[in-house]
Formats: sequence, structure tokens, C-alpha cells
Amino acid sequence: MRKHLKIATIVGARPNFVKVAPLFHAIEAHNKRAAELAIDHVLIHTGQHYDDAMSAQFFQQFELPEPHHYLGVGSGTHAEQTGQTMIRLEPVLKELRPDWVVVVGDVNAALAGAVTAKKLLLKVAHVESGLRSNDWQMPEEVNRVIVDRISDLLLTTSGFADRNLLGEGVDAGRIVRVGNIMIDSLRKFADRAENVSLKAITGRDLHNEPFVLTTIHRPSNVDDRHQLQEIVSALVDIAGDSPVVFPLHPRTRQALQKSGLMETLAGHGNMIILNPLPHLELLALQQCAAVIVTDSGGLQEEAMILGTPCVTLRTTTERPETLRENGGTSRLAPLDRAGITFAVREARRESRRPVDYPLWDGCTAERIVAALVGRA
Ligand code: UD1
Repeated sequence: MRKHLKIATIVGARPNFVKVAPLFHAIEAHNKRAAELAIDHVLIHTGQHYDDAMSAQFFQQFELPEPHHYLGVGSGTHAEQTGQTMIRLEPVLKELRPDWVVVVGDVNAALAGAVTAKKLLLKVAHVESGLRSNDWQMPEEVNRVIVDRISDLLLTTSGFADRNLLGEGVDAGRIVRVGNIMIDSLRKFADRAENVSLKAITGRDLHNEPFVLTTIHRPSNVDDRHQLQEIVSALVDIAGDSPVVFPLHPRTRQALQKSGLMETLAGHGNMIILNPLPHLELLALQQCAAVIVTDSGGLQEEAMILGTPCVTLRTTTERPETLRENGGTSRLAPLDRAGITFAVREARRESRRPVDYPLWDGCTAERIVAALVGRA
């Protein structure tokens, strides 16, 4: 008789959807192939990101089914979001009693999911384990450390992550290096993204213009008015040289409106302000941009694989492999107007240099399925 393995995967915020889609499809492929063991996969969406542009259109583009459970947590303070997720998740996990609970990345859904599951004595696997910025002001750093401390299976992206975990005294037997699952999505979509019309996305024919793509949403960059002002001033300077495409995260749109800085930005003729973009459209822009300016962890990694020079608007990164000194394509920028503008001008001089990073090969999801099945 065919045995069954039950896996519950918890997603909550935009980057999770990009990472969980390959896992979902790898499990489907496993079920078609494997005669002896069927995986029952349950998708739980906490509802941390709920707008169509932040959630539903990712489910459509990645051909993910409706989540089996939608917790409807929505926005709130960290305590509200984490607490509400735990309260709403507990009865679902109690009822399901999965063999594995999979959490992804460093968002509040991962923290709430791991803690809730562990207290129900369920086994937890953490995808994208071992990243450390060592910046305790980042809410994501708090989430990363706690989730790794309590997870049973630590699925890492690189040797940097492994070394972080080993340095914290983690038993090597809990660590499996599987590569970067977000790059599975990139490799699947890259060819299709090449055929996307940039004019359809931006209203401007950018194929022959060296434009800058920027995304900014970290609380440290957008919630502090002075910091936001420095970034906005730098972007306006940069727009003096070439078009700047800026898809706005809801947090950033709110902050720009509240601070009165939206007019400064939107008033510049070379500034192309957009709503959050679906993955394919964002990849198309990343493939063609002369420079990416971002504080997103995911974009730093995608820029490296695509070879696009990247300016990271942070003083630290939990993804050191993306930095130029480690073979990547990204540089950290001082966060003032002059520092950002200088870093972008420097990055402009670099040519595109795609990087082949070990295990960031499009097959990470399959390795995760193998690890989960092997340790069931
Ligand atoms: C979260 C993650 C961050 C990740 C980012 C990707 C945590 C701690 N942070 O940050 O690691 O890089 O997602 O986007 O989990 N909002 C909407 N519609 C939505 C979602 C959010 O309008 O669909 C607004 C809400 O008003 C909210 C604000 O955006 O207050 C921020 O959302 P939140 O989920 O709190 O954090 P993010 O900044 O998105």
C-alpha cells in the first residue's frame, strides 16, 4: 500500500510565494513519479500580504492553487501579526498534525509558524536557513535566529549560511545545503521574461535606454523621514542621468504620501512610479536594467544570477555571496544622498556579469523534497 507523508507549508508575504511555488510543483512531480510514498501537501496562507498585487497575482502567475487554509491576519504591529497568526494557526495544525511543517525565509509568518508548530511537537523545516545580517534592529534578523534555533531541519542556500549555523553551535546533522529555491523560480521564468514588453509595463520604450530599477521597502529606509528624504533626493539625482523605474511597495507608498515626498519623486519626468509588479514583469525589468538599486534580499540574489550590477541600500547584508568582494554583483552603499548617487554612478560603469553559484541551479526544490522524504 502507498504510504503518505503530510507536509504543511506556511506562507504569508510576497517573497514566500516566489519560494514556495517551486516546492509545490516539485511535490506534484514527486507524487506522479513515486509509487511508494505520496505527499499530501497543505498550503496555509497567513494573510500577512493580502492585496491582489502582493498576493493573488503571484498565485496566478506561479500556478499555485488556492491555499487550503487562509488565516486572514492582515496588517498590524509585529506583535499583532505574529500573535494573530499563532492564534489562528494553532487549531489548523492541531487538526492536520502534519509530519513536517515547512516555513520559509524571515517574515513574521515564518516566526509564528515555527513557534506554533514546535509547541505542538511537530517537526519544522526552515527553508533559507542560516542567513545572518548581525543587525538586531532588523525584525527579520530576530525572526531568522529564533526560527533556526527551534527548527529540526535547516535547509541552507550557501556555505556562508552553513558556517553561521555551525558557529552558533548547531549540530551539523540538522543542516542540509540545498541551494536557493528562489532561483528555481528565476530560472523557470527567465526565458519568458525576455519576451515581456517593457513598454507594456512602464509606458516607455526602455529596451535601448540604460535605466535604473529601484525597489525600497525596509522599515529602516522608509519609516524614518530623514532617511527616506536622503533616498528620494538620491533617486532624483539619478533620474537626472537616466530613467528610474520604481514599483512601490505599499509600505513605501504610505511613507512617501505621509512625508509629503511623493510630489518630489513623481514630479520628475524621468521617474516612472508603478504599483507592485508581478514576478515575470519584475524579472523582465531586472534583466534589462543597467543598475538595480534595492534593499530587498531577493533582488540582491536575482541581480547576481542575472549579472546586473546592484547597489544595496543597506549597511549590512545577510547575503554576503551577492557582494562583489565575494564574486557577486552587488555593493553596499552609504545611506546618504551623496553616497547613494556615487555608488550608482560607479555601478553604471560595470558590465553585466551573470554568476553561476553552486546549487543555485533551478533544482533546489527537488533537493528539499528529497530531504523531507529522507528524514520523515
Ligand atoms: C514583509 C516582511 C519582509 C519582506 C517584505 C516583502 C516581516 C517582518 N517583514 O515586510 O521581510 O521583505 O514583507 O514585501 O515579515 N500592506 C498592504 N497590502 C499588503 C501588504 C501590506 O497595504 O498586501 C501594507 C500594510 O499597511 C502594512 C505595510 O504594507 O502595514 C507593511 O506590510 P508588512 O507585512 O507589515 O511588512 P512588509 O514591510 O511588507
